[in-house]
Amino acid sequence: MHPKGKTIWITGASSGIGRALALALAKEGGSLLLSARHSDRLEAVAAECRELGAPALVLPLDLATPGAPAQGARDAEILLGRIDMLVSAAGLGQRGSGLATDRAVAERILAVDFWAATELARAVAPGMLARGDGQIVVVTGVLGKFGAPNRAYYSAAKHALHGWFDSLREETWKQGLTITLLVPGWVKTGISAAALEADGRPHGTTDPGQLGGLAPEECARRALAAIIAGRDEQLIGGYECGGVYLKRFWPGLLKWFIRRRGIG
Ligand SMILES: NC(=O)c1ccc[n+]([C@@H]2O[C@H](COP(=O)([O-])OP(=O)(O)OC[C@H]3O[C@@H](n4cnc5c(N)ncnc54)[C@H](OP(=O)(O)O)[C@@H]3O)[C@@H](O)[C@H]2O)c1
Repeated sequence: MHPKGKTIWITGASSGIGRALALALAKEGGSLLLSARHSDRLEAVAAECRELGAPALVLPLDLATPGAPAQGARDAEILLGRIDMLVSAAGLGQRGSGLATDRAVAERILAVDFWAATELARAVAPGMLARGDGQIVVVTGVLGKFGAPNRAYYSAAKHALHGWFDSLREETWKQGLTITLLVPGWVKTGISAAALEADGRPHGTTDPGQLGGLAPEECARRALAAIIAGRDEQLIGGYECGGVYLKRFWPGLLKWFIRRRGIG
């Protein structure tokens, strides 16, 4: 779907990939509603969108709060009138082993990385299906294609997004709903610094993978092309995206590589 003249609700819009996507969609003529927790950062991004000539409103919310995605969707429909496109870019990283991670920390990661995107889709899809037109864009990641140490719940959530949204696509393909899964490799954002350690503390440092990753603007440029083309799935990144093909065709080599080199 081309964003021109479309109403677009984007989560994770306060920073990183979500912010860059919001600006890219604004440049192409979309009308934006921006969500995340930090209203000051959202207001700053909204001001940047308006400078590009795009209408932009903010709807702060914490997607990990039970009921918040559904309530957010009701508020978003009131603010936008109708939602032509939903972009779920909000995400929370992990830096703790699967065995050591507290249950409450695991639940928070799954709430933001899996439940929020599916709850938002369940809330906005009926309107899109009734109109016979709409697009749901979800940012997953290469760890939705293979696992890695200290990412068990994050990787599980991202894998689950692929299964859930691939299933939704097969349930709705005759009814005008387009589902696009964006699959970035490493992108230079604050995701690793904000990632939760096993006890729930923020990791606090930017890992080498993110430091050497794509600029968010370049990620958004490639994502925009995939969104406009209505692609089912788009890998976006550098050498790490090769892991997706190794997993499928040469899994032993991927295992060797991760054990020797680590991940990001
Ligand atoms: N960077 C990478 O290397 C990479 C690679 C693969 C996939 N991804 C995915 O890309 C997406 C964007 O991440 P990013 O790299 O751009 O990192 P980021 O800069 O940390 O952005 C994460 C966004 O999610 C929002 N968010 C986090 N917790 C939230 C909550 N409870 N409720 C509402 N919003 C929340 C944050 O805003 P607030 O703090 O204001 O709430 C922020 O806008 C994520 O889904 C991530 O998993 C990133």
